[in-house]
Amino acid sequence: MASQSNGEHAHAAHGDSLQMPEGTQRFETFPAENPAEIVFDDADLQQIEAYKSRYPKKEAAVMRTLWLAQTKFGWLSEDALKLVAKTLEMPPADVFGVASFYTMYFKKPKGKTHLAVCTNISCSLCGGYEIYNYLKEKFGLENGDVTADGKLSLEEAECLGSCGTAPAMQVNNGEYVENLTVEKLEAFLKEKGIL
Ligand code: FES
Repeated sequence: MASQSNGEHAHAAHGDSLQMPEGTQRFETFPAENPAEIVFDDADLQQIEAYKSRYPKKEAAVMRTLWLAQTKFGWLSEDALKLVAKTLEMPPADVFGVASFYTMYFKKPKGKTHLAVCTNISCSLCGGYEIYNYLKEKFGLENGDVTADGKLSLEEAECLGSCGTAPAMQVNNGEYVENLTVEKLEAFLKEKGIL
């Protein structure tokens, strides 16, 4: 065990080093292609007021408002996150924090078909990495990338709550494809016109 008299080791042991631990996900934000288009109209603002009215504090409406922004703009650019913060009168850092925590919020533009492939424990034991790596290699993608034709994007996801039917993937934040095999995945990709 590191001696507590060694300041450097003592700090590292308590995890308060200023260095980012290895494997920590970095949260980057990207500006919208056209920031002028990142605005809420009257109907959106009315909807956000309705969200706010359901909670004792306006901040509690942040998840629904982020979802509305994502549905409207396609993904959550830095401009969209700032718009949500301004609309809810919240510190941008708080809104960025919520958006960065949940994978359902897209922080980068996505492909027409976005596949979130689970590689958490149950899925990885049942071949989740075989599925994920197949997509990486077949389409030359890394986590978060979009194909040049914009048809497909890939994400390595944490548990999707479908462990009993592992391995699983989620399509465009909606439909689940479960008990995946490479054959089943290929059939899915053909059906979508990707393969
Ligand atoms: S581990 Fe993949 S859905 Fe739970």
